[in-house]
Amino acid sequence: MSKSTEQSRREFLKTAGAGAATVIAGTIWPVSLAAAPKQDGPRFRIVHYTDVHVQPELNGERGFAQAIEHMNGQKAAFAISGGDLVFETLKANAGRARRLWDMYTARLRDFDMPAYQVMGNHDKFGLLNKDIKPSEPGYGEKMFLERLGRSSTYTSFDHGRWRFVLLDSIFPEKGGGWNPKLDEKQMAWLESELKAAEGRPVCAALHVPVITSFTQMLEGPLAAPRPQSTMHDAKELRELFEASNVKLVLQGHVHISEHYEYNGVHYISGGAVSGAWWEGPRNGHPEGYATIDFDGDGFTWNYHTYGWKAKKRTAYDSRDRAAHASLWNERAVFALIDETPSAGGPAGRSSVQI
Ligand SMILES: [Fe+2]
Repeated sequence: MSKSTEQSRREFLKTAGAGAATVIAGTIWPVSLAAAPKQDGPRFRIVHYTDVHVQPELNGERGFAQAIEHMNGQKAAFAISGGDLVFETLKANAGRARRLWDMYTARLRDFDMPAYQVMGNHDKFGLLNKDIKPSEPGYGEKMFLERLGRSSTYTSFDHGRWRFVLLDSIFPEKGGGWNPKLDEKQMAWLESELKAAEGRPVCAALHVPVITSFTQMLEGPLAAPRPQSTMHDAKELRELFEASNVKLVLQGHVHISEHYEYNGVHYISGGAVSGAWWEGPRNGHPEGYATIDFDGDGFTWNYHTYGWKAKKRTAYDSRDRAAHASLWNERAVFALIDETPSAGGPAGRSSVQI
């Protein structure tokens, strides 16, 4: 990192009130997983952080900066985001969308490691705004591509013995809106990428879960999954993963931590940097991110909080209140949120440590 960039980061944290010179408190939340037998191969650590939903309200930008400061202390080889980088551009006008991307990319420069980005539903500009036409600059995936200097919303790379495949799980529907699935072109690309790994272990990352029990956890075992909470092509993806050597699937979107192993593939939903959209922990799951320590074909996963305290409701200013109202209006769109969280997290959950 250049000296001027480092200065600008520290100045931002200082003016934001986080106190960059101080040690930021954080802890490993009591969720930890060691998976797969160890084999020979280089060891390395990565960071998986998801659902930042960066925004100026509710101290969201400061929270992201604080999380990055904490992640940098992990001495990881690189970071992978899980999507929902900005909050939010599905419905935002162009000015707001550009401002949010300015904010996110400014903070990206704070990382001391490469940070690879995954597409989330809130990162596709204009899909739910009838006033924004597909001809608008930056429409859909274009703003993500332009701001991140990418030519495709999905990509892959190798590190050590592992191949990492970053997917775009947000399929824009004709006439507006989106559904969680891959298009045919991306599915064919994924098949060729997995084949080209030639038996080496693969970690896939995408925003919308292939496997989640989020709805059932909240509403009971007979509740139907929400239309946008799980990949529509989950069965095809799962079978493809099992037929190749995918060992680990990193998921976002649901803002909780959960882990499933099915036919030798581990599926992990990695909480959220923003918790419940910067209003506190979500359903007992605190604001945080994960580290994954790869060792041969195995790995260990840990979820870390980073010392974030959500603003108390009584301290909300008018912009915070507007953001809060907008968030709850979004519920019909998300169809994923069960209850209004209280700032600082649900009462009586002493196991949540921040
Ligand atoms: Fe999200």
